[in-house]
Amino acid sequence: MNLLNVVSIKALGFFALLVAVIAAVLQYLENCKPTYQGIHYGMAHDMNKLQEDLRQKNKTCFILGASGETGQLLLKEIIERKLFSKITLIGRRQLTFEDTSIENLVQEVVDFEKLDEYAAAFQGHDVGYCCLGTTKAKAGAEGFVRVDHDYVLKSAELAKAGGCSHFNLESSKGADKTSGFLYLQVKGQVEADIELLDFERYSIFRPAVLMVDRQESRPTEWFARKLLGPFSSLFPTAMSIPIQSVIRAMVTNTLIPAGGKVEILENKSIYDLGKALEK
Ligand SMILES: NC(=O)c1ccc[n+]([C@@H]2O[C@H](COP(=O)([O-])OP(=O)(O)OC[C@H]3O[C@@H](n4cnc5c(N)ncnc54)[C@H](OP(=O)(O)O)[C@@H]3O)[C@@H](O)[C@H]2O)c1
Repeated sequence: MNLLNVVSIKALGFFALLVAVIAAVLQYLENCKPTYQGIHYGMAHDMNKLQEDLRQKNKTCFILGASGETGQLLLKEIIERKLFSKITLIGRRQLTFEDTSIENLVQEVVDFEKLDEYAAAFQGHDVGYCCLGTTKAKAGAEGFVRVDHDYVLKSAELAKAGGCSHFNLESSKGADKTSGFLYLQVKGQVEADIELLDFERYSIFRPAVLMVDRQESRPTEWFARKLLGPFSSLFPTAMSIPIQSVIRAMVTNTLIPAGGKVEILENKSIYDLGKALEK
């Protein structure tokens, strides 16, 4: 083994150790955050009964971003559990499903640049889930703000006007309208702007990096997932979260009583809440 190899092995070892230490510190800080009280409701309740109760209420929901990674898994979970009497997918394109026998599924194809013309699509839903979003790399800074702020806020406004009482927003860990980082600033700003709409119940989910085998190629996220992968089993909520935890937390939170008019679920709370629905 030559000197160069020894040096690179040592450097790799040091790097892995550094990431592990950072992950441990972040996990510790995450654990120090106050736990969302809904978890206790979630654990105490009989989830099967809560699901049956919701089915009996014949509620309807819509999903924004059902073609995305979170949206499509959320849709699958909701369909499998037969929680709503009608599910409306609101998106920019028609989706096709292998299973053509899915009942009570409606698709509304809208032009997000002219959302006011599609107000009818947002009418009459009890619960709304927003998993819409793009990236700066994909859409540029302006395009990112347009989607992650303007489209999301306008959709929330139309949903509120259309009678939606429980709006669920998939935001991001670190969302902060005063942040110097565009991504976190936009996420924080849209969270705050939607709060002003005064939904009867407003749930904000702030997941860290989603652990998912993304269909679309995103090199930065791919690299982050590869790097975080080995540590995520040791420190599951330090820097990442399995996407299934986010889906199940969203569903569980829909089933349990509100933990407040505005609920902010940080990464650790999402992870814990998701466990309540594990099969
Ligand atoms: N990825 C992560 O690690 C991570 C971590 C924390 C939070 N989040 C946030 O969580 C949310 C969901 O993330 P995800 O990774 O599940 O999303 P995703 O897979 O990228 O899906 C995004 C959804 O938004 C739609 N969309 C994108 N650009 C659009 C546009 N210009 N007009 C209309 N619709 C558009 C997509 O529709 P098409 O299929 O038609 O493109 C898709 O349905 C996002 O807000 C994201 O910022 C993500």
